[in-house]
Amino acid sequence: MQILTTAAGLQAHTESARQAGRRIGLVPTMGALHAGHLQLVQAARAECDEVIATIFVNPTQFNNAEDFRLYPRVPDADAVLLAPAGCTALFAPSVEEMYPQPTVLRFDFGDLERVMEGAHRPGHFNGVATVVSKLFHLARPHRAYFGQKDWQQVAVVRQLVADLSFDLEIVARPTIREADGLAMSSRNRRLDAPARAAAPLLYQVLTAAAEQVQQGLSPLQVQAQAEAALAAEPLLTPEYFAVADAQTLQPLAAYVPGRAVVLCLAAHLGGVRLIDNVVVER
Ligand code: PAF
Repeated sequence: MQILTTAAGLQAHTESARQAGRRIGLVPTMGALHAGHLQLVQAARAECDEVIATIFVNPTQFNNAEDFRLYPRVPDADAVLLAPAGCTALFAPSVEEMYPQPTVLRFDFGDLERVMEGAHRPGHFNGVATVVSKLFHLARPHRAYFGQKDWQQVAVVRQLVADLSFDLEIVARPTIREADGLAMSSRNRRLDAPARAAAPLLYQVLTAAAEQVQQGLSPLQVQAQAEAALAAEPLLTPEYFAVADAQTLQPLAAYVPGRAVVLCLAAHLGGVRLIDNVVVER
């Protein structure tokens, strides 16, 4: 596995792969890799000839300086995991390499980002779209792989690709969970023992809510019951629980026949912000 740290190095690497007729899969990450990331690398390996993983803790997508400072960084452990999963090159640039000058361009994804993560983390999707656009331009992948734990991010990236005519396919892969249901996340490393013990509640609340959607409880009832269940855990500070259209992400007053519903939540647990979601096909 080659390790690349410069934009020019990444461009040269992927350009020569393209010229050799090799299909390029890109797996953008912020590191502290877990099985969720590795399944993206494995999927890319199965579908592409060249698999580029990127590790960059992107400062422009953090609206909280402390969250950025505390984001787990374990570059040596990450590098060890990537090659066996099928990664052929790792791009791990510095902040100066990715942002030689402050960016002026601002993205606005309209209603898609007025809810959930976009509403609670101002500027977050501008930062995501900025760095993902840079990576797409530099690597020019045929496919780019993202995890569905970040459901709204996938929707925003798909919109970005459509609006800017990036010539690539977005592949979204399911959330990978611990045995007790907790969605794998780099941030889980920061949970202390009591917070970790309480964390499975997030998925329990989501699965209970999903059943209620199937049973026909109204979105308002589902939301109220989920909020009450989250509020009952003293270690947990809920940020939002949303019952939304899985495609538009807009909150639902009533279900629309034939349209999937996404249940999304964010909560703070022992000082760590976690998100999760479940999709209910209808
Ligand atoms: O999902 C992430 O890890 C990040 O938001 C991404 C897509 C790598 C952009 O920094």
